[in-house]
Amino acid sequence: MPLPAPDGPTPPDGGEKHRRRPRYPGTHPRSFGEKYKELAPERYPGIEAHVRARGATPAGQHVPILVEEILTVLDPRPGERGVDATLGYGGHARRILERLAPGGRLLALDADGTELEKTRTRLGALGFGDEVLTARRTNFAALGEVLAELGWADGVDFLLADLGVSSMQIDDPARGFTFKHDGPLDMRMNVRRGISAAEFLARASEADLERTLRENSDEPRAARLSNLLLRRRGTIASTLDLARAVREALEGLQDEDEVERAVRRVFQALRIAVNDEFGVLDRLLAQLPAALRPGGRVAILTFHSGEDRRVKHAFGRGLAAGWFSATSDGVVRPSPAEQRENPRSGPAKLRWAVRGTVSWNVEGLS
Ligand SMILES: C[S@@+](CC[C@H](N)C(=O)[O-])C[C@H]1O[C@@H](n2cnc3c(N)ncnc32)[C@H](O)[C@@H]1O
Repeated sequence: MPLPAPDGPTPPDGGEKHRRRPRYPGTHPRSFGEKYKELAPERYPGIEAHVRARGATPAGQHVPILVEEILTVLDPRPGERGVDATLGYGGHARRILERLAPGGRLLALDADGTELEKTRTRLGALGFGDEVLTARRTNFAALGEVLAELGWADGVDFLLADLGVSSMQIDDPARGFTFKHDGPLDMRMNVRRGISAAEFLARASEADLERTLRENSDEPRAARLSNLLLRRRGTIASTLDLARAVREALEGLQDEDEVERAVRRVFQALRIAVNDEFGVLDRLLAQLPAALRPGGRVAILTFHSGEDRRVKHAFGRGLAAGWFSATSDGVVRPSPAEQRENPRSGPAKLRWAVRGTVSWNVEGLS
């Protein structure tokens, strides 16, 4: 039997390439690649529940956030057509697909081709094949073009965007998103496009970097950090190099937790920059009035203030213009119980809007 290509679909059962138990020091696997049971849950029943009971996310998976709240807001119904603009592990998509039969269809987008193929295969094995699910590797900024290609230019009944990165991306050191393990300083969701975070650092001027840190993660020490990081840029190629450089730049700061928060903010700022996350979110938001049918529902999950501000303003403008007939009053947050069970849900904020009947005018958005 031919083995799947590295980026290709993983056969749903039995056909998956055998993963040899890795050698690791100590009694428990610690790094992503060592967690062989979590990476093959179909062979180790119970492992998923065991890891979740610790409030952790099993390696290679993503725990969907605010699922019931999102289903209430989107209210997917049989026969409807909708979009999941950020498919990820497919946790939200699976629950949405269960509600669309008979006759409904879901278009699922993801900029990350590696995960998209795995998720498509997993959902296919659950009975959601090509007749109900169309999965496209694309940035959601191209939503309008994809809808036109599918013959859906008259709009969809609902759209979900669960922004940011998935746990599979964060946890895999090879993707370069985490400062907890060493890996190449990459951070691109689509590794075929754009420049890595290491290249960004190598090319940025001090003013660029300072603006990136301030605008993308409200970094209070943006000037000091950009100056010191650029002085050391020849030595920063990996995630741990960058984390170390930030810690050294803040030497003398007594509050160790604040130093770690600064490391986190620097990583977030660079990730947003290399993926142009604000630019593509603005493009998605600008297309919403045209992409939704009258009465169509949109739900957007954000994870930091820069994203939430954009969604709030776009929904506010849309409400004032009559493109939306209703929007959420404030944000919906995960309950304390959800935050305990899935600590990664902590920063999530959900906003929603319902498309009104006033026709959309591109000029009005600028
Ligand atoms: C938080 S995860 C989504 C998790 C998903 N809701 C689930 O239940 O598994 C975000 C996903 O969106 C993708 N993504 C982020 N920005 C994107 C963009 N501009 N266009 C398309 N996909 C994007 C990421 O690659 C990632 O897989």
